[in-house]
Amino acid sequence: MAFREYKVGARVFGLAFGTSMFITLYMPAIDIASVSATTSAMERQLSFGRLGGFSYEDPLLLGWHKPVTVDITQNPKTGETIEPTRAYVYDAKVPFPNGIRHPRILGKESAELSKSKGKILAADEAQGAVFIVRETTQGGVSVPYIENVSVTRGWTPAATLAKADDKNRLFVGKGKIMFVREGCWWCHTMLPEQTQDWQYFGAPPMLGDFNGESPTAFGSDRKGPDLTHVGSPTWCLSEAEVNSCLRFLFMSGVA
Ligand code: HEC
Repeated sequence: MAFREYKVGARVFGLAFGTSMFITLYMPAIDIASVSATTSAMERQLSFGRLGGFSYEDPLLLGWHKPVTVDITQNPKTGETIEPTRAYVYDAKVPFPNGIRHPRILGKESAELSKSKGKILAADEAQGAVFIVRETTQGGVSVPYIENVSVTRGWTPAATLAKADDKNRLFVGKGKIMFVREGCWWCHTMLPEQTQDWQYFGAPPMLGDFNGESPTAFGSDRKGPDLTHVGSPTWCLSEAEVNSCLRFLFMSGVA
């Protein structure tokens, strides 16, 4: 008996598999840079940092080498009072997130602004840096961008951290690593779907909210409630509730 049938079968399978992988993996990436990152996407990646999932830099997912998110009301350089500002502090050697490493994924305008006004290319991982998210208006539309305040304003990581007491230091990156490590995503989604879901769990994320975020924490299926807006100030009913819900999750230190 000839093996011809098997050869034909193998080729047909190869073609079908190749096509399906092309559609699933490659096609979504073709024009990905045409979707600009939203403010939320920038905040997510800056608060989380780069390491997620297995890596030699944090093999047991303990939340090592993570940035610290701080809320400050004083200029770290001069000590003057400033508008409440959220800053993302990267100590020396803490890996920068994707948007800083590959500004292209922020989308054209945001990438340009982050490079020209925000000076993100001048950020040096070996020395650490402090970033903030800013918005500016271009042609009547608000465009978010990332500013490397270590270069533009001389805020060093140490001085910025020193301006935030315990309650204003948020360990978002470590919290998310905990969510991944402990398998919370087996039972909880972070993705209200565009159905009646949002009446209960709050607004769904938008296109561009995940640019540069890796891994995303969509969850696999939902045995417990969706956690997207747990702890989000616009969704929680009272300050007390805010403090007891997602802050516990993403904003408390582990490890
Ligand atoms: C085996 C499934 C499962 C796993 C794993 C799991 N949860 Fe849950 N979780 C639930 C269920 C079910 C509820 C709802 C319980 C209820 O309402 O009585 C819940 C409720 C919650 C709530 C309250 C949400 C709200 O809107 O009231 C939070 C917060 C939460 N879980 C966080 C976590 C975190 C953090 C982890 C990982 C450390 C985790 N869960 C892992 C099943 C799970």
